[in-house]
Amino acid sequence: MTESNINHRSRGEALDGPHYGENAISFSGRLDYSYDVLFSQEDILSVDNSALRDLTAGRKCMVVMSETVDRLYGGRVRDYFRHGPESEKCCILTIPVGENTKNIDTVMRICKEGRRFGLDRRSLFVAMGGGVLTDVVGMASSIYMRKLNYVRIPTTLVGQVDAGVGLKNGVDFDGVKNFIGSFHPPVSVLNDFRFLRTLDAEEIRNGLAEIAKMAIVADAKLFSTLERNSREIVDYYKSGTNPDLTREINISAARRMLEQLQLNPFENSLRRLVDFGHTFSPFLEMHTDHRIKHGRAVAVDMAISTEISYLIGRIDARLHDRILSMLADFGFNLNEGGAYDVGLMWQSLDSILLRRGGKLNLVIPTGPGKADFLSDRSELERSVLRRAIENISGFQTAALK
Ligand SMILES: NC(=O)c1ccc[n+]([C@@H]2O[C@H](COP(=O)([O-])OP(=O)(O)OC[C@H]3O[C@@H](n4cnc5c(N)ncnc54)[C@H](O)[C@@H]3O)[C@@H](O)[C@H]2O)c1
Repeated sequence: MTESNINHRSRGEALDGPHYGENAISFSGRLDYSYDVLFSQEDILSVDNSALRDLTAGRKCMVVMSETVDRLYGGRVRDYFRHGPESEKCCILTIPVGENTKNIDTVMRICKEGRRFGLDRRSLFVAMGGGVLTDVVGMASSIYMRKLNYVRIPTTLVGQVDAGVGLKNGVDFDGVKNFIGSFHPPVSVLNDFRFLRTLDAEEIRNGLAEIAKMAIVADAKLFSTLERNSREIVDYYKSGTNPDLTREINISAARRMLEQLQLNPFENSLRRLVDFGHTFSPFLEMHTDHRIKHGRAVAVDMAISTEISYLIGRIDARLHDRILSMLADFGFNLNEGGAYDVGLMWQSLDSILLRRGGKLNLVIPTGPGKADFLSDRSELERSVLRRAIENISGFQTAALK
């Protein structure tokens, strides 16, 4: 089998602990885990490909998918397991899942169905779908009998380069995005580019936003590649033309993401480059009741953060224009009009501070493939945020002329 395999290995990090005094004895445990993020060249649903069956062999498993994924790929998944030796051990659960049902009720439903099917501590969940689906199944796996192993099969571009790659999962709570969640590494992530062909252009753009995020903050070469192909790239993904390029882009983005995660797998440090594009975006998504989807919100956030960097003199006009033009060329509308309520956006930073230990840690680009943080909220003036928003709307209007 020809494939690219990125192995994510990590050791638990030491934190500065309390000092117990001379007579105290303390033991420290070490957390050790690893999982593979596989980019398969071969069809992972081909009955001849045993990659998935090898993971499910000898145990009960429940494949959970969304209605859309079931409609598109459910038949092939059923065929795949039917041809296996232990078909009775696997069942399929199809759930209606979307941003509006990304909540604890959906997690409970998965746990309940798992119990009905008789999943035990050795069993496996297989999460097959977009980031919402893999997040809710990951969350269910982390609490089902305290922990159940699970495999991710991401079927969206966001899933393959971002949501499916790391350790985190989460659901929305009390109007706040991903407020409840856990860190629960999958046993394996199986990526297959074929799934991306059935995505519409908007979903591809959502993934491109996450790829651009890694490129802008950590990979100047990837940034140049995206920039060179910015007008055709959506079509390349949709039509399957130029597969070597899109494959290389996905692998680079996932690799950069894993590099960042390896440094800080459980987010003991809340200064994270991968938070680029994720400071104002939760507000944009929730405020518009998910009319602005995750990837698009991330793109707008990256544009605002780039504009802020320019306004405070951390990047020159050329890099500013390169980043904004690339996002506009992908087809992102950076002018969200009604969604840009500066007062509410400013206020939403309170919940960002809650998540980041009282710090703002706003990631701003400082060079191609380089970034820095505005650590304290005092480093960002409300008037700068206002101007940044006005300017990106103006940039978009000019770009459309
Ligand atoms: N856990 C993490 O680290 C992490 C990271 C990034 C994003 N996320 C989460 O991921 C979510 C966004 O994920 P997403 O962008 O994949 O959205 P999504 O899961 O809502 O999927 C988008 C749409 O595409 C459909 N779909 C899935 N696969 C398809 C395919 N192959 N062909 C056609 N349609 C398909 C889905 O049914 C859905 O309607 C957000 O909730 C975000 O919070 C999590």
